[in-house]
Amino acid sequence: MAMNTDILLGLQWGDEGKGKIVDAISPEYDIIARFQGGPNAGHSLEFNNVKHILHLIPSGIFHSEKINVIGNGVVIDPAVFKKEIENLGPPVSELAGRLIISAKANLILPGHRILDAAYEKHKGCLKIGSTLKGIGPAYTDKVARNGLRAGDILAENFRDLYEERLEAHLRILKNYDLEYDLKEYEAGWFEGIEMMKNFRIINTEYYINDLIDRGKKLLAEGAQGTMLDIDFGSYPFVTSSNTVSAGACTGLGISPKNIGEVFGIFKAYCTRVGSGPFPTELNDETGKLLRDAGHEYGSTTGRPRRCGWLDIPALKYAIMLNGVTQLFMTKSDVLSGIDTIKVCTSYLLAGEETRELPINNIPVEPVYTEVPGWKENISGIREFSLLPSNLRNYIKFIEDQTGVPVTLVSVGPDREETILR
Ligand code: GDP
Ligand code: IMO
Ligand code: MG
Repeated sequence: MAMNTDILLGLQWGDEGKGKIVDAISPEYDIIARFQGGPNAGHSLEFNNVKHILHLIPSGIFHSEKINVIGNGVVIDPAVFKKEIENLGPPVSELAGRLIISAKANLILPGHRILDAAYEKHKGCLKIGSTLKGIGPAYTDKVARNGLRAGDILAENFRDLYEERLEAHLRILKNYDLEYDLKEYEAGWFEGIEMMKNFRIINTEYYINDLIDRGKKLLAEGAQGTMLDIDFGSYPFVTSSNTVSAGACTGLGISPKNIGEVFGIFKAYCTRVGSGPFPTELNDETGKLLRDAGHEYGSTTGRPRRCGWLDIPALKYAIMLNGVTQLFMTKSDVLSGIDTIKVCTSYLLAGEETRELPINNIPVEPVYTEVPGWKENISGIREFSLLPSNLRNYIKFIEDQTGVPVTLVSVGPDREETILR
C-alpha cells in the first residue's frame, strides 16, 4: 500500500504558518498540491531576506525541481492567478513545466466577487468578515451545478457559457443595493483566462495517482484552518470548503489508504481574522503585544488579526477531526519576553466545566493554566535541546494535553528558522 501522501493543514483559524513550513519541507517531496480554498488564502514564505505571499499557487513553487498542482477542490480566480504568476519571477514557459491545474477546479467568476460583497453588505449580525474574493458564491455555484471549471476554458463556446452565468448573476444582483464596475474586472479576468492556457489543464487525479503508484511523495497543502471548516468550524463564521484532512481526498482525488502523516500546524498562541467566536481572545495590552510582536496583519486583506492565548480544547478538537500524527508549532519566538503564558485547558459553560466546543457558538469562558515564560531571543537557535527550558516545558505541556508529539518548532519567518526534532 502506497502511503506516500502527507497532509499539512492548519489547526486553528488560518494563518498558522502553512506557507512557510510547506516551503521548508518541500525538499522531502516530489509533488506539492493545494486541495481546497482559493485566493482567500495568503501563504507567506521567506528566504534570502525576501518575503513571498501566495494565494492560489502551492507553496512548493520556489523549489524548481518540484511539481505543483492546483487540485480540483480549489476555486481559481484567473485574474489573481495571472498576477501571482507574474510576481513569481521565473518566465511562464518555465513555470508551465511544473505547475499543473486540475480541469475540474471551479472558476471564480467576476459575478462571484460582486455577489460576495453584496451578500456581506446586506448581512446584519451574521457578517462573516469574508475576504471578499468570491469564495462563498463560487462554491455555492459549484454545488448548485452552475459552475464553470478550468477545463471549460478550452471549449469553443466558452464565451457563451460565461455570458449565461453572468446573466444569472446580474439577475440576483438587481435585488441588491451595491455599486460595482464589472467591465474593468472582467477585462483582467479574461486576461487571466489567457494566462491559464499556458499551463497544463488536465485530470490531475490520474496524474497524481500515477505518480503515487510509482512511489513519488505528495504533500497536500491545506488552506484556512480547521476552525474555519464549513462543517466543523464555528458556522456560519467559516469558509466554504472542508479544510480538514478528508478534504485532501476529495480535493485531489486520492484515496484515504494513501495518507501517511497528517501534520497539524498551530501557532504558539491563537489568532483569528474576521468575525466569530474566539474564547481566548485578548482585547487588552497583551493582545496588542502579540499583534505587534507577531506582525499579525492579514496576508490577503491587511486586516489586523484578533489575538489570544492558546486554546487546547479547540486544538484537541482539530487533532481529532484530522487524525493529526505530528504537531508543528510556529511563532514560538513571538512569546519570548512574556513573563507568564496562559493556556486555556477547558471552558466554563453556564458555570459547568467542559472540554468540548459548545453548539451554536454559545459563549464560553476559558479556564486557564499559567506556565512560566522565557526571556531569550530564540530566532538563531536550530537545535531543540538549546531552546530555553521553559519553552521546552511549554511544548511538553501541549504534548501531554493533546497526546501528540511536537516534531517541528518554528522560530522565525525564514525557511531556515525551523527546528526539526
Ligand atoms: P499561512 O496562511 O498559514 O501560510 O500563514 P500566513 O503566511 O498568513 O501568516 C503567518 C505569518 O507568520 C507570516 O507573516 C509568516 O511570515 C510568519 N511566520 C511563520 N512562521 C513564523 C515563526 O515561526 N515566527 C515568526 N515570527 N513569524 C512566522
Ligand atoms: P490562510 O490559508 C485566515 C476567514 C475570513 C473570514 C472567513 C470567511 O491564509 O490561512 P472567505 O473569504 O473564505 O469567505 O472568508 O474565513 N479566512 C481566513 N482567515 N486565513 C485564511 O487563509 C483565511 N481564509 C478565509 O477572514 O472570517
Ligand atoms: Mg494566511
